[in-house]
Amino acid sequence: MSKCCINPSILSADFVNLQAELERISTADAVHVDVMDNHFVPNLTLGLPVVQRIQEVSALPLDAHLMISDADRWAPAYAELGLASVTFHVEAAAAPVKLARDIRDRGAKAGMALRPATPVEPYLDMLSELDMLLIMTVEPGFGGQKFLDITLPKIRRAAEAIRGSGLPLALQVDGGISADTIERAAEAGANVFVAGSAVYGSGDPDEAIRKLREAAEAVSNG
Ligand code: DX5
Ligand code: ZN
Repeated sequence: MSKCCINPSILSADFVNLQAELERISTADAVHVDVMDNHFVPNLTLGLPVVQRIQEVSALPLDAHLMISDADRWAPAYAELGLASVTFHVEAAAAPVKLARDIRDRGAKAGMALRPATPVEPYLDMLSELDMLLIMTVEPGFGGQKFLDITLPKIRRAAEAIRGSGLPLALQVDGGISADTIERAAEAGANVFVAGSAVYGSGDPDEAIRKLREAAEAVSNG
């Protein structure tokens, strides 16, 4: 399994002190930014101007997770900000292949996310269009929810398909990832782990990142 990444979600950070909150996760691989529009999901966070400022001040690459309707229209603008990766939800995209290409054309890695009940099989023929597949391990919309074990077989099938394809795709999981659940997700084949409350809810975010990384790597090396 390729190198494992811990991407803390700033959804659980202090939104009025974002710059300082970024400095507390200096050992992370990337910053996971959750964009919600109160339409695709029943919650509202932040949009383009705020993501642009985070991108300007962040020492770490940005991994945007767009939980927004009409992804075809809005996602390319996030790629234009110079973010490392832009992930759209397939349920919100009318033309996911075109959208993945639009994101890549703008210099960002293209990620595609699936809600817990969305099957992966219909999309296996388009893996070559993607740099990352995100399997949601909670219903998107809120931090602090419980990891859904019913997503483990899907993670396993996606990991097998990625291995079989020979493509360098990352397999990301997001939702309920903690010291208690990260091993299950890693065993199933995930290699990029988003964690919000497990990182920012701890007194020492960098220490929480270290522990999560250690647990995930123990699985991939063992
Ligand atoms: C939920 C977001 C997640 C969220 C994860 O819809 O996509 O990124 O921040 O939070 P935790 O790790 O607390 O489940
Ligand atoms: Zn997310």
